[in-house]
Amino acid sequence: MKNGTIWKDIDGNDIQAHGGCIIEHEGTYYWYGEHKGADNCPGTTRVDVIGVSCYSSKNLHDWKYEGLALESDKNDPESPLYYKKVLERPKVIYNEKNKNFVLWAHADSADYVYGGIAVAVSDTPVGPFKLLFAKQPNKQDSRDMTIYKDRDGVAYLAHSKDWNKTMNLSRLNDDYTDVDGFYVSILIDQEREAPAFFWHEGMYYMISSGCTGWDPNQALFARCEHFLGKWKLIDNPCRGEKMETTFDGQSAYIFEANDNFYLMLDHWHPNDLKTSGYSILKIDILPDNNLRVNWVDEWKGI
Ligand code: GAL
Repeated sequence: MKNGTIWKDIDGNDIQAHGGCIIEHEGTYYWYGEHKGADNCPGTTRVDVIGVSCYSSKNLHDWKYEGLALESDKNDPESPLYYKKVLERPKVIYNEKNKNFVLWAHADSADYVYGGIAVAVSDTPVGPFKLLFAKQPNKQDSRDMTIYKDRDGVAYLAHSKDWNKTMNLSRLNDDYTDVDGFYVSILIDQEREAPAFFWHEGMYYMISSGCTGWDPNQALFARCEHFLGKWKLIDNPCRGEKMETTFDGQSAYIFEANDNFYLMLDHWHPNDLKTSGYSILKIDILPDNNLRVNWVDEWKGI
């Protein structure tokens, strides 16, 4: 699979799973993302919402389409899933207590003014997920977001707020189905979005992008010894050609496989979003706790 391009599933169809995440469950990897497999609305940089797609794989290379895990609503303009709205960056987390899967996504109005999240649940990884609600978490705006499960099993919604100026880490309830009211604000006025997290040997890391819409910009990594501590932006982890534009991509998620951490990127094509590409790149953790992401031409799976 050539990094930076759109990839094919095992049936030869384009993989439509943008802004996504990869999780592992019982020996199978599941890739969720935005299905953007339609033409842009004429003269715009949007595709009507189709839903959240799900793909499965054993080796992170050969992906089988499992269908839409969460489908848009074509009829009810009041529904958060109405196809003329926005549903982006879906993230799925497994809840050990309830033995179910919880999907969080950026849910917005077509003009991105609302700024909220949608939450849906399913007993199986492939869905169909059932929408619980959409809202503004802790009554604050929420745009780019991700879900992170800490090592103690407590999970958090990380979301850009105050029109992307600052980021909130908002704790979830035990069911992972809502925020529980506790949050901290980090990277205040640093204007970061597209956050992706991991932990390694006593340190939490976040890779994020700047805020330039579909246009690529420089990634930065931040780190902190405590998840709810004072996060600090450190440096651009990317090296090589196009390192200043994240290889013309934007962070989507970080997953762990075979003791390595991998960064998923989207390579957006705003004028034809369905052709937007993907990359998966290994993250090197240097002895001084700095991160390096080097470009490689191909993703070969594991
Ligand atoms: C980006 C964001 C994408 C999408 C896009 C719309 O900044 O990361 O997920 O919302 O803006 O312009």
